[in-house]
Amino acid sequence: MASRCRLLLLGLLVFLLGRLGYYKVHGITVETDNQRVTAREFEGAYLNCRHNAKKQSNARIEWKKVTGSDVSFVYFQDSFVGNFKGRAEILHSSIQIRNVTRKDSGKYRCEISAPSEHGQEAGEIEISLIVFVQPAAPICEVPISAMSGTVVELRCKENEGVPASKYRWYRNGVLLLENPTSWMAKKDRVHYTMNTTSGTLLFNPVSKNDTGEYYCEADNKIGKPQKCPVKRMQVDDLNISGITAAVVIVALIIASCGLGVYYAQNKGYFSKRNSSVREKMSKYKTKAYEKDFKHTKSFVI
Ligand SMILES: *[C@@H]1O[C@H](CO)[C@@H](O)[C@H](O)[C@H]1NC(C)=O
Ligand SMILES: *[C@@H]1O[C@H](CO)[C@@H](O)[C@H](O)[C@H]1NC(C)=O
Ligand SMILES: *[C@@H]1O[C@H](CO)[C@@H](O)[C@H](O)[C@H]1NC(C)=O
Repeated sequence: MASRCRLLLLGLLVFLLGRLGYYKVHGITVETDNQRVTAREFEGAYLNCRHNAKKQSNARIEWKKVTGSDVSFVYFQDSFVGNFKGRAEILHSSIQIRNVTRKDSGKYRCEISAPSEHGQEAGEIEISLIVFVQPAAPICEVPISAMSGTVVELRCKENEGVPASKYRWYRNGVLLLENPTSWMAKKDRVHYTMNTTSGTLLFNPVSKNDTGEYYCEADNKIGKPQKCPVKRMQVDDLNISGITAAVVIVALIIASCGLGVYYAQNKGYFSKRNSSVREKMSKYKTKAYEKDFKHTKSFVI
């Protein structure tokens, strides 16, 4: 029981030391000042790595980049590899990368090994690098027109910013508040919901007063906020008189067409023409005559 408890404590200790960025693998202790390095894109990043291998032991230093299950060399056999060549330098066992880009984000492993009297000794530590990227100009979706009383959603999005951008909306150059206080909402009849994370501006329902010029801004505090081009949204009431007029005109057109056809048919206009219409019409007429004939017949009898 006691031994199991001791084992548990040992496990806990190893776990805690691991969390603290303090590893001891087969003899060499490898440490870092900063296990989560952040840097802005196109600036420099310093990945610190320290070890306690003896100077005279001729320790071998290697840096690797770990992307999922893929491991590639960054520093190998005393020189930088691939796109790190000419862009990074080694300072003891730490590395300084110049002009980092978004592609440099990821996990890096500092590995130290040295020969010893009991064969090879080694130690390693993993450091993550997060490259902050300024937002791109967002894409805004604003309907050109809307009918008052309907639900309308305006959207704004950009995909480059690290960390992810927050969004703000402007109407006629005035910032729309994310959470209008209730008295303001009442006074200005505010009826929108803004989601600064997803970039949506939802009008439920939209009113004529929401007509205006809209644009949105994406901001992640890295570099300047970026905006989309201004777009106008026109909100109109459902125009009853306009619709009534349109319906009346359409009805008139249908009616006059019908009358025209009836008139032409009676005049025998279609039967005089050499067309398939004439054939169809004459067939129809024959049937009609037959009916009339039967009728007259029955009348006679
Ligand atoms: C940094 O890297 C980018 C892309 O790799 C390149 O376009 C730019 O010229 C570099 N800037 C400097 C100062 O080296
Ligand atoms: C805002 O949008 C995000 C992402 O779509 C969602 O997770 C979150 O719940 C939304 N917030 C509100 C208050 O609706
Ligand atoms: C629109 O705004 C005007 C003045 O700003 C206000 O008098 C009117 O009541 C508003 N109408 C609606 C439907 O919100």
